[in-house]
Amino acid sequence: MAELTGQVALVTGASTGIGRHLVEALAARGMAVAGLARTEDRLRTAMAEVAAATGARTFAVAADVTDRASVEAAVEAVVGELGQIDLLVNNAGVIDALEVPLWEADPDQWWDVVASHIKGGFLLSRAVVPWMVLRNRGRVVNLASGMSVRARPEYSAYSVAKTGLMRMTEALAAALEGSDVRAFDVSPGVVDTAMTRSMAIWQGFEDWTPPEAVSELITAIAAGELDAWSGRLLRAGVDDLDTARAVALGEAARQLRLRPYGEQDPLG
Ligand SMILES: NC(=O)c1ccc[n+]([C@@H]2O[C@H](COP(=O)([O-])OP(=O)(O)OC[C@H]3O[C@@H](n4cnc5c(N)ncnc54)[C@H](OP(=O)(O)O)[C@@H]3O)[C@@H](O)[C@H]2O)c1
Repeated sequence: MAELTGQVALVTGASTGIGRHLVEALAARGMAVAGLARTEDRLRTAMAEVAAATGARTFAVAADVTDRASVEAAVEAVVGELGQIDLLVNNAGVIDALEVPLWEADPDQWWDVVASHIKGGFLLSRAVVPWMVLRNRGRVVNLASGMSVRARPEYSAYSVAKTGLMRMTEALAAALEGSDVRAFDVSPGVVDTAMTRSMAIWQGFEDWTPPEAVSELITAIAAGELDAWSGRLLRAGVDDLDTARAVALGEAARQLRLRPYGEQDPLG
């Protein structure tokens, strides 16, 4: 396992669930880790626990990822406290609470779901990536989902958001081509968290993806072991790390594309 000592990570949605597991895994590998979420008490407690468990430097910064001024101030505070960011993980976000078809959705809640992933990922990338470009060093990870590639009718906002976020990764990676700054999609599988516990489709589900599998992939990305995957999707719990490191990735492999209806499809 590669040492990440001396590197700095910023993880959004760090107070619970996947983000909480991830900050501890990155800190255990020697990274200084900043965590961001809206609820300050819970976030502070989480980051203090991580510091106590790992001995790493941690920093808690409360912010809403959809608020431009808060995001810019948060990134400035992280850089001031820990130094330039080597790894940005856009993990914060929410899901359709009502689980109804699109036309029955509450417009404000629908848009909040989309904003949490899309505006959040955009604002964080916009605040962090320019400094990565200047240093010609850095990696961005966006949390994807099965719904990045296939919509579910009762989670229309989340499906839109996760698909858009995957396009954002692709656009970012393409714009960064030729540099040593890279962007990745990581789908975590189905991890037992407050989000999945709130979703009707996972009631009674038991075959959870261990959060360690998500952390393992993102840690390997942070260590530069999966740079060939920039602009593409990795899936925790399914993708084997040794295979991912070695595989030759063809044109558009693990990227969003239309599937042609056959040889004669003019869009094929
Ligand atoms: N769990 C899964 O199986 C699964 C599967 C596919 C994809 N994902 C994705 O993985 C990521 C983490 O999911 P999770 O299951 O760990 O969720 P979770 O347990 O509900 O945690 C969400 C985190 O995001 C923060 N957050 C939410 N909205 C925010 C906002 N506007 N600004 C700042 N922070 C915000 C929350 O804290 P505050 O509420 O205090 O802000 C919390 O720390 C999400 O992007 C999710 O879509 C999860």
